[in-house]
Amino acid sequence: MTDTHAAAPPPPRRLVVTGCGSGIGRATALLAARTGWSVVGLDVTGPEQPATRNGVRSIRCDVGDETSVAAAFATADELWEGAAPTAVVHCAGVYRVKPAVYTTAADWDAVLALNARGSLLVAAAGGRRMTAAPGPGSVVLLSSIGAVRGEVGEPSAAYSASKGAVVSLARQLAVEWGPDEVRCNAVLPGVIDTPMTTVTQDPDAFREVVRRIPAGRTGTAEEVARLCLFLASDAASFVNGAAIPVDGGQSAA
Ligand SMILES: NC(=O)c1ccc[n+]([C@@H]2O[C@H](COP(=O)([O-])OP(=O)(O)OC[C@H]3O[C@@H](n4cnc5c(N)ncnc54)[C@H](O)[C@@H]3O)[C@@H](O)[C@H]2O)c1
Repeated sequence: MTDTHAAAPPPPRRLVVTGCGSGIGRATALLAARTGWSVVGLDVTGPEQPATRNGVRSIRCDVGDETSVAAAFATADELWEGAAPTAVVHCAGVYRVKPAVYTTAADWDAVLALNARGSLLVAAAGGRRMTAAPGPGSVVLLSSIGAVRGEVGEPSAAYSASKGAVVSLARQLAVEWGPDEVRCNAVLPGVIDTPMTTVTQDPDAFREVVRRIPAGRTGTAEEVARLCLFLASDAASFVNGAAIPVDGGQSAA
């Protein structure tokens, strides 16, 4: 007998995650795959030909390079047989600690080229597809609490400025794409325990940093991944243009 009350299967959700080789991007890709998303992961360390591991299809991509981003999204189009992504979570980025007075034009350009330009290239590649497709879409950009507060212990002017640009970019895209049902939000992690986090290597500096976090500890990549996937999903359907810290209260202290 046919069950006429059976719920229709949920529509497929397709996610592009950048920086899927490590830290927050890896945690986001794995959590998404475990919770029913079809996931394409991009990373500069990824395989040249798409390869599937732990439910994530990985492709090599340099997010700072326009040609590389276009090629990676074209491969995702093929893997999804022409369907647009439902969401993009952009985690790929670099962290550079250098006092402002020693920061050269080359230092500045290298960080901005990856963190700021890379955010535009990835968001635009996703947004172009999602705004042209029927139904809602979402772009999540990884900024940092460095965008909204200075840091004495690890001065990083180029990095902080690049992450400020990411917040401004997210707001602009929210306004441009909102009428097409495509949302864009920025996530601002505090100190998260990933290979990027250099402060964890110096016990004294680490103790001092943790003392300033109301939660009394650093965060995990999965705690950031959960916020990213909430913003990527329809559960966040009215959240657009927001800049949301995930920092154990550090930016409020
Ligand atoms: N870890 C933290 O404490 C923290 C705090 C604030 C913000 N963030 C931000 O979160 C994001 C993820 O950081 P994470 O801690 O997971 O870092 P991570 O170093 O663990 O991972 C970064 C990933 O990006 C990839 N990547 C680097 N350059 C790339 C390029 N040109 N093209 C494609 N991929 C590239 C790396 O291969 C790596 O897999 C970054 O944007 C970072 O700035 C992290």
